[in-house]
Amino acid sequence: NWTMDDFIDMQVKKIRETVGDKKVLLALSGGVDSSVVGVLLHKAIGNQLTSIFVDHGLLRKNEAQQVMDSLAGKFGLNIIKVDAQKRFLDKLKGVTDPEKKRKIIGNEFIQVFNDEAQKLDGIKFLAQGTLYTDVIESGTDTAQTIKSHHNVGGLPKDMDFKLIEPLRTLFKDEVRELGEKLGMPHNLVWRQPFPGPGLGIRVIGEVTEEKLKIVRDADAILREEIAKAGLDKKIWQYFVALPGIRSVGVMGDGRTYDYAVAIRAVTSIDGMTADFAQIPWDVLQTVSVRIVNEVKHVNRVMYDVTSKPPATIEYE
Ligand code: XMP
Repeated sequence: NWTMDDFIDMQVKKIRETVGDKKVLLALSGGVDSSVVGVLLHKAIGNQLTSIFVDHGLLRKNEAQQVMDSLAGKFGLNIIKVDAQKRFLDKLKGVTDPEKKRKIIGNEFIQVFNDEAQKLDGIKFLAQGTLYTDVIESGTDTAQTIKSHHNVGGLPKDMDFKLIEPLRTLFKDEVRELGEKLGMPHNLVWRQPFPGPGLGIRVIGEVTEEKLKIVRDADAILREEIAKAGLDKKIWQYFVALPGIRSVGVMGDGRTYDYAVAIRAVTSIDGMTADFAQIPWDVLQTVSVRIVNEVKHVNRVMYDVTSKPPATIEYE
């Protein structure tokens, strides 16, 4: 019966033995798993670890900056941040089909990562945040028939690296415990789930810079108010999506014809099933007022009251 401290000591020793004086590469997504792998590896082998963080422009407000401040700043990881917003937007231009969007984002991610990895010399290992649940689930991909889930776990198949997967025996809650033990900030360790394709699947239909800005700003307001109300640990996942419909509104004495945004909030254990969360009306009201006042081109806020099934958590 091991403790998390034993686990850290054991893994550090094992990683050092495996790696020797060689170099390791990590695809950092900003999510819990890859961040914990990064900090753990950095503890074990310091600057023999290089991390690549692809900013696909589909992250939430200030997210990329927070990842850099924390992991590069506080923890001192050597991170190559790739600003690839334009590449992703160009590829997504005119594409409306959800599965096509997911494939494009997933493929482009690998492309950008590969392009960057190719510039590095002498990398022998690739570190990944594979969890025990990923190990069990591989092979039984029922979720994939509904949505082709993408995350940075499924990286370059044609690359000649040996894999390092220090979280392979852990469940998600153990990874969070590990993160805390490693001194990682609470907001990083306890992040709500965020899909690999990011805001790309929360802008329904074609993804444009304008729509990304709307969804990003509205989502930031929702998250701020949920945290202020002390609900951020109680609701499993909460975000704003942009269904892409426009509707008539009135502002001052003028007519508006602008976007409606949807608030999606669910309680869940594992994401497989979910109930819509019952956010108190006064919190919803504050969120709604702030969104229409502060986010340009939004004149309507809707609240999604569908559970999963029949709806999925994400809209695409
Ligand atoms: P759905 O929409 O299928 O989502 O009910 C269930 C959970 O999975 C997350 N999700 C993803 N996570 N890559 C991920 O890493 C993806 O492509 C992806 N799509 C959905 C979703 O946010 C929810 O937590």
